[in-house]
Amino acid sequence: MAVITFISHDGEQHEAPLEEGSSLMQVATNNAIPGIDADCGGEAACGTCHVIVDPSWADTVGPPGPEEEEMLSMNPDRLPTSRLSCQVKVCGSWDGLTVQLPESQW
Ligand code: FES
Repeated sequence: MAVITFISHDGEQHEAPLEEGSSLMQVATNNAIPGIDADCGGEAACGTCHVIVDPSWADTVGPPGPEEEEMLSMNPDRLPTSRLSCQVKVCGSWDGLTVQLPESQW
């Protein structure tokens, strides 16, 4: 089974099945991954779906768009590979993708 791994800030790993075409946020919420609240339902308006993409996957996943960038710019936990997971559409070839959750999303 192809999987995506979400790692909480304390190092706990949670695997979810890769769901091609879903957003990374939907993959997380469909699989009860702790720390992804997604309060706005995927509108890039709340920032509670923030993930930090493993640097080895950053080029594959790509950078944020302008709207997403604006929301991320207000997030104190932002790192160079930060994304809003609701804005990341999962590709079928992303087996093994790993993302971390910031400490504030606990
Ligand atoms: S779910 Fe609100 S910004 Fe992603």
